[in-house]
Amino acid sequence: MLRVAVLISGRGSNLEALLKAALPATFVGVISNRPGVGGLALAAAQGVPTRVIDHKAFASREAFDDALADALAALNPDLIVQAGFMRILGSRFVQRFAGRMINIHPSLLPAFPGLDTHGQALRAGVKLHGCSVHLVTEALDAGPIIAQAVVPVLAGDDESALAARVLIQEHRLLPAVVRGVAEGSVKLLPGSVVISPTLAVEPAWTTSALVSPPLR
Ligand code: GAR
Repeated sequence: MLRVAVLISGRGSNLEALLKAALPATFVGVISNRPGVGGLALAAAQGVPTRVIDHKAFASREAFDDALADALAALNPDLIVQAGFMRILGSRFVQRFAGRMINIHPSLLPAFPGLDTHGQALRAGVKLHGCSVHLVTEALDAGPIIAQAVVPVLAGDDESALAARVLIQEHRLLPAVVRGVAEGSVKLLPGSVVISPTLAVEPAWTTSALVSPPLR
């Protein structure tokens, strides 16, 4: 069984989607860099071990990274999922887990990396937006893309309406990718991914299937 560790920083709705998806995986631990967040309670309620490694308790970014890396390594994970994890990890950390870590990002990468993705999308005037799951590499939000889901940007959208529409797709996309890793249709390598067509062409992930109402 694939051993999955999850990194979070907040409410944990993507974590919840993973835990509810009945994946062929064992969740070996959830680590948050913030104490008291909703995702920790969600994990604990499902019997998944939780740990807080508070970045504020460390004198440097590297010291936090090292403590987090040691805590993760102790879980012996096959796959590390960043599900709303809001810290940038340094190259030593990323190299230690190369080919084993994925991230969900709320935009259609390479568009709108970083923060405030929905605001960035609205200001840019794009008509399609969405989310991406990608391999984590040393370049921020720039590792090879594994899968994406698309939503329309509708007239009158504000950031929260758009974020909510994207989030629904995040909750489908991330479990689908983790399932793909568990079942072998997604292979993660240091710096690259190999994706079987069975994952890539799943009709639900195509633009037309997700755009509602249909574009005219
Ligand atoms: C999600 O929208 C996720 O894509 C985003 O944070 C949110 C976490 O929500 N992640 C990033 O912005 C990473 N750069 P959740 O805690 O409810 O899963």
